Amino acid sequence: MEERTLLIVKPDAVSQHHMGSIITMVEAEGFRILGMKMTQLDREQAGAFYAVHQGKPFYEELLDFMTSGPIVPMALSRKEGVSYLRQVVGATNSREAAEGTIRAQFGTDVQQNAVHASDSPENAAKEVAFFFAEDERFGG
Ligand code: CDP
Ligand code: MG
Repeated sequence: MEERTLLIVKPDAVSQHHMGSIITMVEAEGFRILGMKMTQLDREQAGAFYAVHQGKPFYEELLDFMTSGPIVPMALSRKEGVSYLRQVVGATNSREAAEGTIRAQFGTDVQQNAVHASDSPENAAKEVAFFFAEDERFGG
């Protein structure tokens, strides 16, 4: 079944000129891009997006990082899109991510890991709606 998911190219990968390579990889892996934009989060928006991590030791620094520059959120669709994208993205810690994954190629460490990917279909629906209005998504 075609399934939507959200990918975000994080500030580290945008500033290091990796967004084009990342777009190429997700298209080569069979994802359709339904929506894409460049934007910069303020602290309140980043806090809302990562509300699930509130109170964790890395939370405040995560907000510093995610608000440090522009990001490129993308609404994607593919068969089993959520779990497939997590595989393409690799482990949270870039240093432990499997060879060939986005984080292994473009991430630096456990925080600056190049991309975000939704972790469940339920969260994917919420996260796509966080960045994209109905009329900013195309091709269903
Ligand atoms: O992004 P992912 O779902 O793989 O990991 P997470 O556990 O949901 O954490 C969200 C984000 O917080 C990560 O992608 C990292 O950028 C950051 N993080 C961190 O800075 N230090 C950690 N120990 C764990 C996560
Ligand atoms: Mg997560």
